[in-house]
Amino acid sequence: MAERYVQEWLAVMVTARIVDYDAAGARYTLPAEHAACLTRGAPLGNLAVYGQHVAIMGAVQDRVLACFETGEGTAYGDYPCFHQIMSEDSGQTVTGPLFDAVLPLAGDLCERLHAGIDVLDAGCGRGGALLAMAERYPNSRFVGYDLCADAIAHAAAGARAAGLANLRFEARDLTGYDETARFDAVTSFDAVHDQKDPEALIRALHGALRPGGVYLMQDIGGSARLENNLDFPMASLLYAISCVHCTPISLGQGGAGLGTMWGWETAEAMLRRAGFAGIERHTLPHDPMNVWFVARRA
Ligand SMILES: C[S@@+](CC[C@H](N)C(=O)[O-])C[C@H]1O[C@@H](n2cnc3c(N)ncnc32)[C@H](O)[C@@H]1O
Repeated sequence: MAERYVQEWLAVMVTARIVDYDAAGARYTLPAEHAACLTRGAPLGNLAVYGQHVAIMGAVQDRVLACFETGEGTAYGDYPCFHQIMSEDSGQTVTGPLFDAVLPLAGDLCERLHAGIDVLDAGCGRGGALLAMAERYPNSRFVGYDLCADAIAHAAAGARAAGLANLRFEARDLTGYDETARFDAVTSFDAVHDQKDPEALIRALHGALRPGGVYLMQDIGGSARLENNLDFPMASLLYAISCVHCTPISLGQGGAGLGTMWGWETAEAMLRRAGFAGIERHTLPHDPMNVWFVARRA
């Protein structure tokens, strides 16, 4: 790297108290406890990956300010690089720890995947989790649906490049989704709260499961009550993302606009009303922002 740029960047990091500076020796140090939040392979993920959402906020500022005045919403096309940043984000919370921490939440799911079952990932984005599962479990059949054709094209190219014949991606609006008893397992990774109608989608995903099927749902772990979120990790970032992305995206589809911080209580109540049985709520140490539900179709 060009030294002049690195030096200027280091000045930013030092005055932000991220990097330490020893003036006498002209030496810069990234303390180990800061590196633990800011480098690849950090135990809680690299916070800089989540920080990229802030850059998107700047890019849509004028559009969202207009929405504040009119009450209208936005569309995915308004957000440059959204699916790329999202796949890096879920790469840390979902795909990286998928086999060691995420899938084991759902009882014997890994054994069933090994034996061969039908799986849907709803709102799959660029499909990182499905690509990993399809490679690991060749006896199972995987389908990924997402509203955005560009994300699906990226996912499908990944499946082709990996030569995976047990994986299919389809650009599909899940509003009004109505397949019945077609899957043994359904997943959604951070893909319900900003839908047009989250409650209808959860009901539909229940219907898409065969009896005994399991739904594994990752969504934002904040509370539905603002006063409970003062100590929730990165709550201000998440509410900010809600203002500029999740709320206007849902409103833009003519939806409820529940927002990023719709609350785990809201999600749990919707799962119950949809008829799910044996609902469990988990948190995972690597993923302090989200909550993980496991629920079954009786
Ligand atoms: C926060 S992203 C998560 C993407 C992916 N699951 C991941 O973890 O990287 C939410 C996804 O839901 C999709 N989505 C939103 N509304 C949808 C709809 N009505 N039908 C299908 N997908 C939708 C978006 O296109 C987006 O890819």
